[in-house]
Amino acid sequence: MVCNCDEAEPGTFKDHMLLENKPHLILEGMLLGAYGIKSNHAFIYIRGEFKAGYEIFTQALAQARAAGMVGKNIFGTGYDLEVTVQRGAGAYICGEETGLLNSLEGKRGEPRLKPPFPAIAGLYGMPTVVNNVETLAYLVPVLQKGWEWFAAVGTERSKGYKIVSVSGHVQKPGNYEIPLGTTVREIIEIAGGLRPGRTFAAVQPGGGSSACIFDEHLDWPYDYESMSKAGSMLGSGAFVVFDDTTDFVKAAYNLIRFFAHESCGQCTPCREGGHWLEKVLHRFVQGRGLPGDMEMLLRVSSSITGLNLCALGDSIEPFLKSVLVRFPDRFEARVQGRQVAGVR
Ligand SMILES: Cc1cc2nc3c(=O)[nH]c(=O)nc-3n(C[C@H](O)[C@H](O)[C@H](O)COP(=O)(O)O)c2cc1C
Ligand code: SF4
Repeated sequence: MVCNCDEAEPGTFKDHMLLENKPHLILEGMLLGAYGIKSNHAFIYIRGEFKAGYEIFTQALAQARAAGMVGKNIFGTGYDLEVTVQRGAGAYICGEETGLLNSLEGKRGEPRLKPPFPAIAGLYGMPTVVNNVETLAYLVPVLQKGWEWFAAVGTERSKGYKIVSVSGHVQKPGNYEIPLGTTVREIIEIAGGLRPGRTFAAVQPGGGSSACIFDEHLDWPYDYESMSKAGSMLGSGAFVVFDDTTDFVKAAYNLIRFFAHESCGQCTPCREGGHWLEKVLHRFVQGRGLPGDMEMLLRVSSSITGLNLCALGDSIEPFLKSVLVRFPDRFEARVQGRQVAGVR
């Protein structure tokens, strides 16, 4: 059983907050999850930067061990469970479950070819369940209150609660626990709304890997099916709001630079394509885009998607394509070597 606390998806900041504020909840979820699948060893992989969370969690683990909840023959039941805490070294790709397993084994954090999936052959070749911190934390109230409690909210197919990390151009960025199906507009309002005098431009509803959604989606329910129908995804629940002051050219450059930097380099489309797009977008940022570049950005990014070992490669296209298609004037202005008035 592995708890994934690598949390590096751009815009996501819920897992380390849970780690710092609810370490016992995560640990209890891990213990219950491990017991449920008859595992005798649970691991938590914590992003290297989360030093405070690591220390807090380690303390909670020592308390649980002292109380007889971890170790040999737990509460005299004959059930043994060891818990290992492992710190990462700040590579986004180590959040991908098989990259994480390789890193845990002391190898380079490179994703594995699937199948076999971790549930068949995971850590040290053993069947392994990898779950996110939030998933495991919810195990505890679900078992205490029953699945009916969790399923009582949400939509027909997307049941329950979700922690949404709202950031960007809102007045009260933060983590908000909402029933799935809350509308996009309501989430913006829960986070304090837009800044005075500003108008809405877009939301990236599922972290850096997701495409933007726009005005026409404001009253759509925030759930897995609707976000997918809108051409995006709910992903990690990172909800980044952009108002009319956004420089989408710079935003796209920033994100592509991130993915290019974090590519592990195993797949040619991801490794070469990411850096190529980064270079071209850098030209745009400097107002030196060339005629034909916009078409080329679309062509190159679409030729990366679907040809890689892991989903990092497929994360390169969505944001870029969504803003390029929606706001072509912003890019075109940089081809001609001039800035769009009013955009920082
Ligand atoms: C590049 C990449 C990075 C990822 N990073 C994380 C991460 O930081 N945390 C996480 O829980 N899942 C991450 N994932 C997803 C994991 O592979 C895996 O699906 C997840 O831990 C399963 O958790 P869940 O089913 O409980 O949501 C990432 C996936 C990819 C492709
Ligand atoms: S898609 Fe990119 S990050 Fe994923 S395995 Fe291939 S090269 Fe590595």
